[in-house]
Order: sequence, then C-alpha cells, then structure tokens
Amino acid sequence: MTQSIITATGSYLPEKILTNDELSKTVDTNDTWIRERTGITQRHIAAEGEFTSHMATKASQRALQMAGYDADKIDGVIVATSTPDSTMPSVAAKVQAALGITHGPALDVAAACTGFVYALSVAHGWIQTGIATRILVIGAESMSKIVDWSDRGTCILFGDGAGAVILEASDDATRGVRALALEAQGEFGTLLGTNGGIGSTQTAGHLFMEGQEVFRHGVEKMASITLSTATKAGLNMADVDWVVPHQANARMITMIARSLKVSASKCVVTVPHHANTSAASIPLALDEANRDGRLKKGNIIAMPALGAGLTWGCCVLSW
Ligand code: COA
Repeated sequence: MTQSIITATGSYLPEKILTNDELSKTVDTNDTWIRERTGITQRHIAAEGEFTSHMATKASQRALQMAGYDADKIDGVIVATSTPDSTMPSVAAKVQAALGITHGPALDVAAACTGFVYALSVAHGWIQTGIATRILVIGAESMSKIVDWSDRGTCILFGDGAGAVILEASDDATRGVRALALEAQGEFGTLLGTNGGIGSTQTAGHLFMEGQEVFRHGVEKMASITLSTATKAGLNMADVDWVVPHQANARMITMIARSLKVSASKCVVTVPHHANTSAASIPLALDEANRDGRLKKGNIIAMPALGAGLTWGCCVLSW
C-alpha cells in the first residue's frame, strides 16, 4: 500500500504580538487570570491587509525550502481554514496561484479547529487514489478578524498564523499515516460558532462560545479519540512518542495527557506563545517541534483535535 509521509514542515506567524498586558488595556481582564486559566501569554495578530492566503503561502514557502524542491513539484493544495480571504475562490486556489503551481486540485476544508486533521484525511485519500502525490496540507487562520474584541470570555484565547506540511506518496512501509479517525456531532453546534455567515447575515459574524462546555467536550473527546486511533493503528499509548494536540488551552492539554496516562513531557505545547490558532495550531506545533529536533524519523505522533461543529478527530502517524 502507498504510504502518506510528512516530508517537510513550515510555518508563519504575523509580526505583531499582542501580550496579555496589552489586551487588558482594552478589555476587563488581566495577565494572571489568562495565564492561570489558559496558559496563554501572547498571540500574533495579522497586519492590516495581511490575509489568510498570505500567511498560508509563507508557511508553504518555508515547507518547500525544507523539502528542497520547487513549488511545481506540488500537485495538490489543501487549506484548512474558517477565515478565508473570500468566499470564493478558495484560499487553496489563491495559495496555488501565489506559488506558481498550475496543475493538480486545490480545496479548502472547513472543520474549524479540527480542520487540519480533516485536511490530512483528504490528502491521504488523494494519495491512496492516485489523484496527487505531493500535497501541501495547510492550516491557516485570521482568528483576529472574527473575534469579538469586547468579549473577554473569547477574545483572550485566539491568535493568527499558518502551518504547512508536505504529505508525499512513498513506498517506505516504516513511515506515514498509520490511522485516522474523524467524528462530528452537529447537535453541539450551539456551543461554539459565529453569529453570522454569508447565507444568513452576509457577514462572517463574531465568535461565540460556551467555554466550560467546550472545555469538557474537548478533554473527553480528544482523549478518547486519541486512544481509539492508536488502537486502530495497532498501537497503545506507550508506543506514542509525541502527542501534538490542538492548542486550545494548556490546562486542557494537561488533562488530556493525564487521562491518557501520558507524561506531560511527551506533549508538544505551543499555546502559551501562539494562543489558539484554530486549524493552524497543529501544523504550527509540528513545525516548531520538527525544527527544534524533537520529532525524529520513525517517531509515533498522535494529533487529536476538537472544534466547532462539534467536530473532532485524530491522526496517528510514523514521522
Ligand atoms: N479575564 C478575567 N476574568 C474572566 C475572563 C477574562 N478574560 N473571562 C471570564 N472571566 C471571569 C468570568 O466572568 C467568571 O467570573 P465570575 O466567577 O465572577 O462569574 C470567572 O472568570 C470564571 O469564568 P469561567 O467561564 O467559569 O472560566 P473558566 O475557568 O471556565 O475559563 C475559558 C474560561 C474560556 C478559559 C475555558 O472555559 C476554556 O478554555 N474553554 C475552552 C475554550 C476552547 O478551547 N475553545 C476552543 C475549542 S476549539
């Protein structure tokens, strides 16, 4: 069977950093509360005129640099995002054009914070069916554009950025995607979402969330799907070298690790300096851990995520 292996990673964070102290000048909050309840210390904010496709393109260029080949070797682009530049064309089509790629499919995937895991499953399917062989799988978000900056319950949590991986077809049976699991339960759509949309209000709307309920679902569902995906791959948690979870809240990651009986030192945690970048959070964390040498060839990596929908999922792969 053809394997789908990650051969390169890249990421991009906007230059502007918004610290908790700066945020507390505009909304009734403070650094201590944010750190204690979320672990977050700062978030990056896209510049005026800097859109999701621009960040996705920059992250992709860094992944291509690592891969050591030109963009024309890429034959598929998938972008997981809930904050596209425009309703159409897709961000993926814009990234494809910006990179000068003129062949292969381009598609956006909307599964909120689970988007990157869903996007990996689509890319894996393209590889299995021979539709593409070298795919840029990107998570990119401009969360600052849909956050209600007067709502202290949500605006403290989110940030902007992009992460990209190149998923390649390979016959190396020791590496690649070992198992994937995806779930959704639309009945929980009222817990997290936006209060607008093109079809209803002709605007994107602003983000709303029932924080405690989402937190509870996040811990329970991300832990259980990590376990079931590892089992599907014929592994147990002792075989997993790194958990690279969706970065929503440091306390949530600690509780997931505890529930899985995995040492906290096996979790890649970037939420303190990135905040929650939704679909971008896992590829951003992967790039950080890849570049600092934590992720080694052959390591087993589990990537659980949960987001609006509710959607959730996990990918277990051999690096
Ligand atoms: N600064 C200061 N105080 C705040 C605050 C803020 N930014 N936000 C809320 N508070 C206050 C509340 O008003 C409340 O005050 P009260 O006790 O006087 O009523 C108190 O802090 C506790 O609020 P609560 O909402 O119970 O806090 P919490 O411990 O549940 O933390 C979240 C709130 C949002 C950090 C937490 O629920 C969370 O992380 N949820 C999941 C979020 C998430 O991951 N979403 C995306 C998933 S993809």
